[in-house]
Amino acid sequence: MKAAVNTEYGPPEVVRVVDVPTPTPKDNEVLVKVHATTVNRTDCGFRAAKPFFVRAFTGLARPRVRILGNEFAGQVEALGPGVMSFAVGDRVFGYDDTACGAHAQYLTIREGASLAQIPANLTYAEAAPATEGSHYALAGIEKTKIRAGQRVLVNGATGAIGSAAVQLLASRGVHVTAVCDTTNLELALRLGAGRVIDHTVEDFTQDVQTYDVVFDAVGKSSFGQCRRLLEPRGVYLSSDLGPGAQNPFLALVSPVLPGKSVLFPFPRHDQAMMNYFKDLLESGLFRPVIDRSYPLGDIVEAYRYVETGQKIGNVVIMVEHGD
Ligand SMILES: NC(=O)c1ccc[n+]([C@@H]2O[C@H](COP(=O)([O-])OP(=O)(O)OC[C@H]3O[C@@H](n4cnc5c(N)ncnc54)[C@H](OP(=O)(O)O)[C@@H]3O)[C@@H](O)[C@H]2O)c1
Repeated sequence: MKAAVNTEYGPPEVVRVVDVPTPTPKDNEVLVKVHATTVNRTDCGFRAAKPFFVRAFTGLARPRVRILGNEFAGQVEALGPGVMSFAVGDRVFGYDDTACGAHAQYLTIREGASLAQIPANLTYAEAAPATEGSHYALAGIEKTKIRAGQRVLVNGATGAIGSAAVQLLASRGVHVTAVCDTTNLELALRLGAGRVIDHTVEDFTQDVQTYDVVFDAVGKSSFGQCRRLLEPRGVYLSSDLGPGAQNPFLALVSPVLPGKSVLFPFPRHDQAMMNYFKDLLESGLFRPVIDRSYPLGDIVEAYRYVETGQKIGNVVIMVEHGD
């Protein structure tokens, strides 16, 4: 099969599309014929080993995982002998940030892992980007215990995490203020924001409104800058380490102090999460935003684009099979 392989850490050019053996499903695994996947910020971090400490998980000198790609949509092609809950031909989408392997024509995954049927109203390209950004968004949202009627400001509302966060919050009846640039104000409103702030003309940290949660989904602010925007027991939530890598530390100390606090959640994922996303996708309350797509053969270009930090939502990779 064809796969995008990187045997060393480095810039996008370390990735080469080559022929590798097709994996064989073990007892409780399914073999998925991948039709669509994404290049996202996690792939970029793993490929470049940035920040440096990711090597503790991905391999000290060289990458242990040589085929990246953590989210995918495709068709079940074969089953291990013990598989009970999927059948050959099922249209599935899933997430695996440990073994990865979705930048390839085929991957194997445990039937009990983060895998679910694709709702009939979605294409492979629409289903593939439904998990990476959204599971970071969901983990943060759930950790804040935000309720319907409360107010959240989302900075970076047009990124993969931010665009999912706006939709997930709106689906829960939360009032969302989205921060994005001029060209995406309409998009943010369509995603469910009730109010938008154009960061090219206005500094959102000077907003007069206060919020129960400020969610920095793009790592461009700090707790210090946003403190005054928060209600007395408000929460600053970030998906990023922060400008001085301070967020994990603040998340440890601030909850034990009275008043405003910082959250830097470590997301988990399982089949219950997949089914939650499946239901939202089915009902139309959540639709991943797609910026552009590339064929697998142009994955290096896709990496270069994602690393501009300017993608809108998600970058999809279409995996061709020639059949
Ligand atoms: N915790 C983790 O393990 C983990 C995993 C994945 C990602 N992350 C981090 O989470 C953050 C978001 O990831 P992502 O994949 O959602 O990012 P992304 O999709 O690459 O974000 C790009 C978006 O951010 C917006 N943006 C750029 N600069 C901005 C600014 N100054 N103010 C407001 N919006 C701005 C851009 O829109 P404009 O046109 O408005 O500029 C663009 O739409 C990143 O910092 C990433 O490193 C963390």
